[in-house]
Amino acid sequence: MLILSIESSCDETAVALVRDGRQVLCDCIASQVALHRIYGGVVPEIASRKHIEAIYGLADQALEKAGVSRRDIDAIAVTYAPGLIGALLVGVNFAKAAALALDKPLIPVHHIRGHIAANYIAYPDLKPPFLCLVVSGGHTMLVDVRDYTDMQVLGSTRDDAAGECFDKVGRMLNMPYPGGAALDKAAQGGDPSVYPLPHTKLSGNPLDMSFSGLKTAAVNLIHNKQQKGEEIQVPDLCASFCTAVTEMLIPRTMMALDQTGYKTLAVAGGVAANSHIRAALTEQCEKRGVRLCMPPLSLCGDNAAMIGAQGYYEYLAGNLADQTLNAYATKTFEGEAL
Ligand code: KG4
Ligand code: ZN
Repeated sequence: MLILSIESSCDETAVALVRDGRQVLCDCIASQVALHRIYGGVVPEIASRKHIEAIYGLADQALEKAGVSRRDIDAIAVTYAPGLIGALLVGVNFAKAAALALDKPLIPVHHIRGHIAANYIAYPDLKPPFLCLVVSGGHTMLVDVRDYTDMQVLGSTRDDAAGECFDKVGRMLNMPYPGGAALDKAAQGGDPSVYPLPHTKLSGNPLDMSFSGLKTAAVNLIHNKQQKGEEIQVPDLCASFCTAVTEMLIPRTMMALDQTGYKTLAVAGGVAANSHIRAALTEQCEKRGVRLCMPPLSLCGDNAAMIGAQGYYEYLAGNLADQTLNAYATKTFEGEAL
């Protein structure tokens, strides 16, 4: 089954063609990052406008690259939640128009379910159940993936997402938006013990996480040094920040593995590209004899291939939409797709 998939939830317009949920014929991305960089973050109105400008050309480009015609498409999958509402609406309306014109099924896909499904592309033999650590710019959670369309959140951040904090601290250190990758790179060779950052203690669900205290501590430290005219050892601070985020994520992930008894851990989302997190997960999973699935960096960030992958399983589960499909800025993803 050949799915044309669309992703436009934030600042990347993406169109892919995916066969049977696993084989990516092409994955085209038009990134707006350079445009938003001058503002230090995503400007929603600009994002919507740029999606409109890009989406038609990108879809034509995708068909040409994959060497298929419109008649070969069996269904259209689209990210319908969560994200910037104006940005999502561009993809949803394009997908609705394409489904109507081609007279093909329309499949709504939750963005986080898509991130998780990036693992099906990177690991063709991977099947649920497994545990997934989702760490993106807007979400941080541990998900029990019981089946392709049956998932339960076991724990999540109570405040900021890990990616938000990376971006905020990166911005304070004058790193280009989004700061996560630059901060990761700057941390190489840094000494994390130079600037110890606090560990937030949480009561209640032991699998819940918190990052805002850590972010505030890092921001205050930078302000303080700047006010005193003291130089900041950027690699050391970045190493300390990466270490603190890793120490929030890894023990909880291991606890969730113990709790579920799963022997497979998948990671998803842009922050899963972080080298500290990847190294710590590799070490811990090796120790425990757990299979670790970490998609390549190209599949960790936003892309449309992951939407095509999840779209296939939503289709099999009968989770289809009609022309009344709407976009949602926020939406849980545990129950049915709509
Ligand atoms: O999943 P994603 O592409 O978009 C959302 O759905 O949010 O994640 C983007 C986030 C940004 O916050 C970005 O700074 C972060 O992923 N990121 C990283 C790294 N590469 C991207 N954070 C830490 N280390 C990295 N290497
Ligand atoms: Zn994302």
